[in-house]
Amino acid sequence: MQTYYVSTPIYYVNDEPHLGHMYTTIAADILARYERLLGKDVFFLTGVDEHGQKVQQAAEGRGIAPIELANQVVERYASLWPELEISNDDFIRTSSERHHKAVHAMWKRLKDAGAIYKGFYEDWYCVPCETYWTETQLKDAECFDKHCCPDCQRDVEKIQEESYFFRLSDYQERLIDYIKANPDFIAPESRRNEVLSFVEGGLRDLSVSRTTFSWGIPVPDDEKHVIYVWIDALTNYLTAAGFPDQEIPKHWPADVHLIGKDILRFHAVYWPCMLMAAGLPLPKRVFAHGWWTVEGEKMSKSKGNALRPADLLEQYDADVLRYFLLREVPFGQDGDFSHIALKMRYNSELANDVGNLLNRSLAMLKKYNGSVLGESGEELEMDRALIADVEAMQRDVDEMLHRQAFHLALERINQVVKHGNRYVEDNAPWGLAKSGNTARLNTVLYHLVETLRLVAIQLSPFMPEKMGLMLQQIMNVDVDIAALRLLDEAGWGKLKAGHACQSPSPIFPRMDLDS
Ligand code: MSP
Repeated sequence: MQTYYVSTPIYYVNDEPHLGHMYTTIAADILARYERLLGKDVFFLTGVDEHGQKVQQAAEGRGIAPIELANQVVERYASLWPELEISNDDFIRTSSERHHKAVHAMWKRLKDAGAIYKGFYEDWYCVPCETYWTETQLKDAECFDKHCCPDCQRDVEKIQEESYFFRLSDYQERLIDYIKANPDFIAPESRRNEVLSFVEGGLRDLSVSRTTFSWGIPVPDDEKHVIYVWIDALTNYLTAAGFPDQEIPKHWPADVHLIGKDILRFHAVYWPCMLMAAGLPLPKRVFAHGWWTVEGEKMSKSKGNALRPADLLEQYDADVLRYFLLREVPFGQDGDFSHIALKMRYNSELANDVGNLLNRSLAMLKKYNGSVLGESGEELEMDRALIADVEAMQRDVDEMLHRQAFHLALERINQVVKHGNRYVEDNAPWGLAKSGNTARLNTVLYHLVETLRLVAIQLSPFMPEKMGLMLQQIMNVDVDIAALRLLDEAGWGKLKAGHACQSPSPIFPRMDLDS
């Protein structure tokens, strides 16, 4: 069976979950659900990043041990994901024994390959970003005088320590060749170009151990060093897949690592070079999405405007949030979250388009034929056009989701829904009923219900709960969304004459714009 592996970043445990974490995890869930629909053996991984100075400092600030802080925050993530209908197959913690073992195995492979050496390190370090900067980099970003981080503008500290280094510079040419030979490796394209010019600008060896704090995985046989948090964190993708017990795990290489644009360099430069050095295959794709602002402002702790998933879930159904986040902003671009935008999008595309098509179709079926699909008559051009549109949508969505163009996939499905609503107007079933044209009425109602069924299947990765309800009304049985397979379900004509649907029951009631 063909495998599919999608991952989210592992989230730092020094902060509570917010909109940004929720976004990537939902996106990954949609891909995982879609690939399961295709019948693949899917591995969907998320988890938490527990080590590093940042977490140690946050724990110290609260007067607790880092592992206690981690345990508390892990609980928040682990309880949030089911509420957002996240169907992850595994949840990785970097403090776990299996991860410790994998990181040691990775270190050993790098060491055995001659890619790690001991040296002396002097540089500038940004604790919040866990990033090292050279003097030149600070100068280039006009940050040297202020000693601030070129990324986040906060203070950087000068660090001098004995350190292990990874020979990143040795992999510069190989990485450039790889990126050029694999145009889909880094997406979107603008990010790919960014990474290419960064690598072409020259790679320096990377310091991969610390002696200034202790919360991490010790370097094998040199325990005063802790392994750099990014070497530790990136290895999670292999740990959960079964490394090192399986040298190349069944699901490896990952099909796509979904990440935010701020952590692209780690995933598109350090990680592939580490894997090359370790002699392991590279992930097929790294997709860096954009950042959300909230009502036009950057989310920040100090402003206290970070959107908490738990608060959003009090106001909106999980499915509505899932739909909005992936529909509103092209994946890869920055976007703004606003309540009014969500409500307007919901009212127009979910209440007015999908909800309306479902309600009116099932209501007419009930009124004119006791909810039973009758024998269809002759197929007209307009019927064939609707079928052709549904089938083209299925192909388009497949292509779009394989390049993570979620918003285009949703737009394409919406076009079919709009087509369905136009088809109702064009055929005016109420007129057919009045004139006693039963054969045509049956044909029209059949095409509507079959369109709705296929639309619901395409939307099910995005809105599993709502689409479960929609399919239940159409199929008249409880539908296990997770068990659906396109091969069995996606052909036009699966519903047969004589099939009874349920009475319509609104799944997308209109929202009040003022509340
Ligand atoms: N622990 C690292 C990742 C290691 S992966 C091997 C980390 N963690 S994080 O918790 O700080 O961030 C996780 C993700 O949240 C990043 O992908 C980041 O881009 C994302 N976001 C943080 N704020 C965001 C927004 N405002 N909008 C969208 N995503 C944002 O980095």
